[in-house]
Amino acid sequence: GEVPLATPSIGTTSEDFALAFDIDGVLIRGGTAIPEAIEAMKYINGENPYGIRVPYIFLTNGGGKSEQERCDDLSRQLQSNVVPGQFICGHTPMREMAEKYNTVLVIGGEGEKCRIVAEAYGFKNVITPGDIIKTKPDTAPFRKLTEEEWNNSRTLDLENLQIEAVFVFADSRDWASDQQIILDVLMTKEGRLGHRSEVFNEGPPLYFSHNDVVWSTSHEYTRIGMGALRASVEALYKAVTGVELNTFAFGKPQIGTFQFATRFLQQWRSVSHGIDKPPATVYFFGDTPESDIRGTNEYNKVAENEWFSVLVKTGVYQSGTPSYRPNHICENILEGVKFAIEREH
Ligand code: G3P
Ligand code: MG
Repeated sequence: GEVPLATPSIGTTSEDFALAFDIDGVLIRGGTAIPEAIEAMKYINGENPYGIRVPYIFLTNGGGKSEQERCDDLSRQLQSNVVPGQFICGHTPMREMAEKYNTVLVIGGEGEKCRIVAEAYGFKNVITPGDIIKTKPDTAPFRKLTEEEWNNSRTLDLENLQIEAVFVFADSRDWASDQQIILDVLMTKEGRLGHRSEVFNEGPPLYFSHNDVVWSTSHEYTRIGMGALRASVEALYKAVTGVELNTFAFGKPQIGTFQFATRFLQQWRSVSHGIDKPPATVYFFGDTPESDIRGTNEYNKVAENEWFSVLVKTGVYQSGTPSYRPNHICENILEGVKFAIEREH
């Protein structure tokens, strides 16, 4: 098939270093580009004093739609072509779990989007909270499905259904009913909704696509995110059952996510730029010390090349001493990319 190309650009490609961008709070806030982001994209695509272009990828904890759909949004917002070969979101690494689990409950996102994403990843039987509510409406006493939700939802054979794992792909749009359903599934004996455990430690595993307690949007203050739901579910499980719950999170700051990003970047450099060696340095630009800076710094200790953390002030972090110390702090992403290119010269 056709090889996806990077934004057509001028100049020579730099082989020695690469860039990786967080999205929310660095490039985008509340669905619109941070003003400097558009200029930053032009800068790294050749419009700089050295006439070089630098290969780059995106690594966001966000999610809720297919990689292609998200890249179409980003291309429009950043006025620069972005393709799935350079885009990793919170749930991208979850696709590897499709080899392990067949029947899964998927939580979060708008309408049917996350079901469609999970099916595209190869999960064979993807259940949503809507399916459970449609089949058994008193599951969530205060939630009534909209007509659209009702029409999209599937009636289940609850007696024979066995949920092997629960995945939170994107932010819940209805915390109360989603948490009720997560608890119901986790409190079962091996994922059978009709069979409650007596010991509460034999339910399916619960995976989150990331663990950000707060994130940056158009609001003046940070908003609670998926990590907040995780804290809430864990506290509820303990309150209801008396048993401690262990859950898992993908995304930044997990080392596995950065390893995934390294393989991904390698492939992107090779396919779109014809570079077959790894970069000596990868600059990571983020706004959240707990995810972006922590992850980059910890990965840097075990990575074969240098991972250099740059913290911007346009998102979660505003001022003061960050909880994880970056290699460099700058006002915004344009300053950030200028800094990286200068450091390489
Ligand atoms: O829900 C997304 C948010 O928690 C973080 O996104 O792009 O800053 O990693 P990002
Ligand atoms: Mg961010």
